[in-house]
Amino acid sequence: MKETELILAIESSCDDTSCAVLRGKQVLSNVVSGQEVHSAYGGVVPELASRAHQAHIVPVVNEALKKAEVSKDDLSAIAFTSGPGLMGSLLVGTSFAKSLSLALDIPLIDVHHMRAHVLAHLIEGDDLKNPEFPFLCLTVSGGHTQIVRVDSPLDMTVLGETIDDAAGEAFDKAAKLLGLPYPGGPEIDRRAVLGNADEITFSKPKVNNLDFSFSGLKTSILYTLQAKLKEDEAYVRDHLDDICAAVQQTIIDILMDKLVKATKQTGIRRVAIAGGVSANRGLRHRLYELSKKNNWELFLPPFEFTTDNAAMIGITGYFMWKAGHVADLSISAKARMKL
Ligand code: KG4
Ligand code: ZN
Repeated sequence: MKETELILAIESSCDDTSCAVLRGKQVLSNVVSGQEVHSAYGGVVPELASRAHQAHIVPVVNEALKKAEVSKDDLSAIAFTSGPGLMGSLLVGTSFAKSLSLALDIPLIDVHHMRAHVLAHLIEGDDLKNPEFPFLCLTVSGGHTQIVRVDSPLDMTVLGETIDDAAGEAFDKAAKLLGLPYPGGPEIDRRAVLGNADEITFSKPKVNNLDFSFSGLKTSILYTLQAKLKEDEAYVRDHLDDICAAVQQTIIDILMDKLVKATKQTGIRRVAIAGGVSANRGLRHRLYELSKKNNWELFLPPFEFTTDNAAMIGITGYFMWKAGHVADLSISAKARMKL
């Protein structure tokens, strides 16, 4: 494949409609349209997400083409997220990608959303640092928490993953409990900076090997706060920032404990991070400290490539296409998929 070839990529697995145009491994445009409609419900409502994707997809694709200054007739291939994700959401992107590939008579490439989060690290461009192989990637989002060993663009192994809630979900559920708006992660991050994490302690799960568990944290927060409120009914109001700092510290402790173990078990010291939670300032700070202490080479992608976006789908499509992986029009979306 010549690097002059253009891939149009579509992502619609959850609540962001996104379209990107790539020339080879470089991103020409990456347009993301979020969905405000869910904030009132404290989480993503699948039916509303699907309807919003339908409304957004055409304008988002047009804007991506316009920003990249290319016409759809110049495109060489279409990449799209086939799963995992919300079925109704995935179907919008899948049908659109299939129709476009059929109309333009160009190849269609079906991309795994979680592989794409990892391969976002291989996007090339000014100020972007790409890891050499092998590297480890901690993917932490609202739907997933995984540590993956990456030996080549198409050779990845899951070393550990959550057995229940995702790390982002833990942030969101804790925030909901505290009466904070959705998504809770950024809100807890903002307040945690102002609080004292040692004011209150929440219990951490005991999970074997490199897997994670976050579902118990919500219960621990609930019971610990109930006990505090018995002694002082204004406790939560007066200590909201401290509670946020402690919640954030507990989630970071759980994540870092397993990440350190993974580097020790594999001997790999190239460490990358992906997913919406990687925006967390406390997490980034801890990663810097750990990388200094353990001599890791750290890869933190820019925010636009770490939260859900189509550029990561495009770069994954690029490597799959190069390796001869293309889909035919019988391909369908899948809500659940192994990596
Ligand atoms: O990757 P993402 O945008 O979407 C998917 O879930 O795939 O991740 C969204 C998640 C939400 O749970 C949100 O609360 C969390 O990322 N998040 C954060 C921060 N920014 C977003 N969590 C902690 N601190 C942040 N600054
Ligand atoms: Zn994601």
